Amino acid sequence: MGDMRINRANAEIGEVTLAQAYRLLNHGPTVIVSSYHNGKQNLMAAAWVTPLDFAPPKITIVIDKNTYTRELIEASGAFAINVPCVAQLDTVRKVGTSSGRNLNDTDKYRLYGLQTFLAKTIDAPLLKGCVAWLECRVIPEPHCQDTHDLFVAEVVAAYADERVFSKNENGQFGWHFEGYPGLRTIHHVASGTFFVTGEPVSATL
Ligand SMILES: Cc1cc2nc3c(=O)[nH]c(=O)nc-3n(C[C@H](O)[C@H](O)[C@H](O)COP(=O)(O)O)c2cc1C
Repeated sequence: MGDMRINRANAEIGEVTLAQAYRLLNHGPTVIVSSYHNGKQNLMAAAWVTPLDFAPPKITIVIDKNTYTRELIEASGAFAINVPCVAQLDTVRKVGTSSGRNLNDTDKYRLYGLQTFLAKTIDAPLLKGCVAWLECRVIPEPHCQDTHDLFVAEVVAAYADERVFSKNENGQFGWHFEGYPGLRTIHHVASGTFFVTGEPVSATL
């Protein structure tokens, strides 16, 4: 893990090299997307998110036209992917089944008592309690956005909770959840049911 800390209050968080940022999403976790524009901030759940390229790292994500998140992302050109853990299951459901639009004097952060910290390169706040974070800038693809609600973005910074994602002796980053059952990532099935990331198994070749 790199030396840089993004926030003293988050001693376990370390930077992930961009070349290996895809490993944060390669196992297909459900995520929370945070967004910000012109004083307005928001979050939503997203299961349809996938790595797309290594260098520079890119991802794709489906962001429905009806979401308030879409409005903020199209206006700002940026968003953050926060990778939540099983301890945050109800938060995922709350931000994924309500809209931040028309909340008037409040937002989902205040409504659901969610804490954040600052991103390095974008304005969208990062959600505390998650186990990984990717700062993303939209690569405009108007046809994909309009026709399929599909966004392509470049990952410009990435971090993880070193207790469950760090570099091994070979310099490779990877997940290791042993001893931290509450920090395992989650995979959406449907209607409030999820799988929790299980045990690793390795092929023999
Ligand atoms: C587990 C889960 C996964 C979801 N995945 C996606 C997704 O991949 N893309 C999407 O557009 N909406 C997805 N949604 C729905 C949005 O999170 C939902 O429409 C949300 O209320 C939008 O909030 P907003 O209007 O404040 O942006 C998902 C919801 C849940 C609960």
